[in-house]
Amino acid sequence: MDRFAYRDGQLFAEDVALDAIARAVGTPAYVYSLGTVRDHVDRLQAAFADLDPLICYAMKANANLALLADLAARGLGFDIVSAGELDRLRRLGVPGERIVFSGVGKTRDEMVAALGHGVRLFNVESEEELEALARVAADLGQRADVALRVNPDVDPQTHAYIATGLKESKFGLAIDRGEVLARRVLDRPSLRLVGLQCHIGSQITDVTPYGEAVGRVADLARRLQPDAPDLASLDMGGGFGIFYKDRRAPSFEEYARVVRPHVKDLGLKLLMEPGRVLVGNAGVMLTRVLYRKQAGAKRFVIVDAGMNDLIRPSLYGGWHRIWPVVGHGAPPVGEADGLAPVDIVGPVCESGDFLAKDRPLPEVAAGELLAVFGVGAYGFTMSSTYNARPRPPEVLVDGARFAVARRRETYDDLVAAETATPTFVEAAAEALDAKEASS
Ligand code: LLP
Repeated sequence: MDRFAYRDGQLFAEDVALDAIARAVGTPAYVYSLGTVRDHVDRLQAAFADLDPLICYAMKANANLALLADLAARGLGFDIVSAGELDRLRRLGVPGERIVFSGVGKTRDEMVAALGHGVRLFNVESEEELEALARVAADLGQRADVALRVNPDVDPQTHAYIATGLKESKFGLAIDRGEVLARRVLDRPSLRLVGLQCHIGSQITDVTPYGEAVGRVADLARRLQPDAPDLASLDMGGGFGIFYKDRRAPSFEEYARVVRPHVKDLGLKLLMEPGRVLVGNAGVMLTRVLYRKQAGAKRFVIVDAGMNDLIRPSLYGGWHRIWPVVGHGAPPVGEADGLAPVDIVGPVCESGDFLAKDRPLPEVAAGELLAVFGVGAYGFTMSSTYNARPRPPEVLVDGARFAVARRRETYDDLVAAETATPTFVEAAAEALDAKEASS
């Protein structure tokens, strides 16, 4: 369910016509429906109500400050993967106990920052990371709360780039090492074993492997519980799939149904880290047609948004519904029939710069506005300024009102961190200075 709908022949986000937003802020532009995000949060909370989870929104999906502020005000927790994400939460005053720190390559500085903010726990992903965290915490005279991220070795049946729960994945610790490593945490005075976590992948549309994964982690928790008095949480990760094209997305209740039996009587706090499912279909990207072009049998529609603005189609073959905002009615549910297929491509100088290939689309002319649907997750956060293209604005819609939450970047923004006249220093002298400073 989302709050984008065609009314009187044009597309609205809640009660705001997207054509009006495009005229106000230009294109390309991201537009998020706050009402849709709030609906998702409410429905997720309702489906899992009896398990009373702490929902830690995986902010890598969409880290817009105003959106985060709205979620923070609703009591959500957050899953972070860098000190940069922590910084965003700190600016919003989110307390540490509502933050879990994931990620396979946390640096020492990031560990220090997170300990300084009192994050609820670190999801630890390797044996060496465990040692590093133990040292950092000991150096600071603190104790770090650790959850072990284990790989339950189930196949989530999703795109290879976003599957993470298999034994061969770079993420997590093999579940059969779980007990050994848990005991190692218990032996370290600067560490405390407070949880177990898993995350088997993203865009999972089959709940069976999901339940299986949680079951395996819950079994490990049961084995550890007698010796781990501080074990307090089980984190099932994120990964709930959404509807893009033709793979049906399960309801929140279906996920709850497969998870519940494993965690109900465990006596541990349930944590979850949903990203995409909360924000994915709450966002569209608006882009205007620049030109049309025919090359042999191929027809192209060239638009003003490129792979730097939205990389999912190029990187994962991600399928996003694309349809005119005005004048062509609502799009069909699947792929449209009976329309000539076109490649919808951007201005970036790469053959891989496309938003859609062979996509049936009504006849559109230069200047027409298109909406790219389902881009609220991993859209703007994965954007770049490749080809020196300023990133688009992010607009929030709330009922009949809209607000620019992030303005369009300027050319000044693009060069702000650079200088054309850097100061060169003698490398040898520099090395000597550094050596003296450290001795
Ligand atoms: N927790 C952990 C440890 C994760 O690695 C992720 C996502 C999440 C939670 C949230 O997963 P979600 O609920 O959003 O599926 N850029 C890709 C998706 C990468 C997901 C990375 N990890 C895409 O555009 O499809």
